[in-house]
Amino acid sequence: MEPTPTDRFANRYPILGGGFFLAGRASGEVKRRLSELSLPKELLRRVVIATYEAEMNIVIHAVSGEVAISVEGDAIRVVAKDRGPGIADVQEAMKLGFSTASEKARSLGFGAGMGLTNMQRCADEFRIASEVDRGTCVEMTFRPRPVDSKEEQQDDGN
Ligand SMILES: Nc1ncnc2c1ncn2[C@@H]1O[C@H](COP(=O)(O)OP(=O)(O)OP(=O)(O)O)[C@@H](O)[C@H]1O
Ligand SMILES: [Mg+2]
Repeated sequence: MEPTPTDRFANRYPILGGGFFLAGRASGEVKRRLSELSLPKELLRRVVIATYEAEMNIVIHAVSGEVAISVEGDAIRVVAKDRGPGIADVQEAMKLGFSTASEKARSLGFGAGMGLTNMQRCADEFRIASEVDRGTCVEMTFRPRPVDSKEEQQDDGN
């Protein structure tokens, strides 16, 4: 079948739960692929940060998963899906500072409870769905933002 322009960048990257030695590989690969497109720097930066956080949440909290990335017009879509314990209370998990990270994860510098908040701030659309004992799915859409928008103004409540 003829690849469509979207297919060219509709890529999936597997992630291994507990695979700290591989941490950052998927988001690194996403960064490498997206760098080949001439995307606005601020857009690329947000996508990479949020993808890294999503990848690390799978490494730290889940059993296995993947991030899928696609380019749709000028928007970038990232879906991070895993098999794992899921999140009992998503609202609580979204609170800045809330973390159930293991001792091991903490000893490696993770577990500040900032990842989900960071993803939400980077993305223009953010959705999380989770089912206990099954897994979690985070969907994010990113669009170019005008320079000097939200992203530059820290702590404005967004
Ligand atoms: N994919 C996931 N599977 C299961 N639980 C998750 C997942 N992602 C997040 N959580 C839960 O939500 C909490 C908050 O996630 P968040 O990314 O904000 O912080 P963290 O991963 O604990 O620490 P940090 O991201 O700052 O290293 C986690 O501690 C965990 O309880
Ligand atoms: Mg995290």
